Amino acid sequence: MLKIGHRGAKGYVAENTLASFQKALELDVDIIELDVHVSKDNIPVVIHDETVDRTTNAKGKVTNFTAKELQNLGIPALEEVFDLVENRCGINIEIKDFEATKAVLNLINHYSFDTEKIIISSFDWNVLQLCHTEKPAIHLGVLTENSIDKALSFAKKISAYSIHPYFKLLNTENVQLMHQNGFKIYPWTVNNLEDITFVKSFLVDGIITDFPDRL
Ligand code: G3P
Ligand code: CA
Repeated sequence: MLKIGHRGAKGYVAENTLASFQKALELDVDIIELDVHVSKDNIPVVIHDETVDRTTNAKGKVTNFTAKELQNLGIPALEEVFDLVENRCGINIEIKDFEATKAVLNLINHYSFDTEKIIISSFDWNVLQLCHTEKPAIHLGVLTENSIDKALSFAKKISAYSIHPYFKLLNTENVQLMHQNGFKIYPWTVNNLEDITFVKSFLVDGIITDFPDRL
């Protein structure tokens, strides 16, 4: 079962920062999960929210800042994370903004990162549809917070690699169905020990957590 560090190691270090990804590597994760938006100059950058308000001391939409300006606020470009990780673990790139999709694919195409080690996921299934059309070989993860049934039918449609459900949606039947259809199951975001035990009982393929050392 894979250890997947949510926004790096969010339980220990400020989320989606290079320090958080470094900590996740030290905790021996198999995969780092991170969130991507696009900057004013069309560079994929790693931040969860649409604005910089919550995680920096500046204010405004991510798309109003250049990648350089965002870097000065502590928000890394996706390419910097590739440089840091250097194929030492996988990267689950969660695309938060449809407009970032082509920039992400372009970076992957021009970067010497092992594409087998990348999974692109999104709650916006239009993102996944576009990735499937533009780059059919890329691993795609279908995110859902409310319906494993719908995620499963869409995953079949785009030949996804994995399904990433909110962990409370799991039950014996839907886990069996996802596995029978050949999908990996990576639930999120599972942090306390009781929930980790509950999710592990389904023999899922990986768990997305803020505390990778708890798995
Ligand atoms: O990728 C799973 C999880 O990160 C989705 O929720 O809001 O933490 O991006 P969120
Ligand atoms: Ca995420």
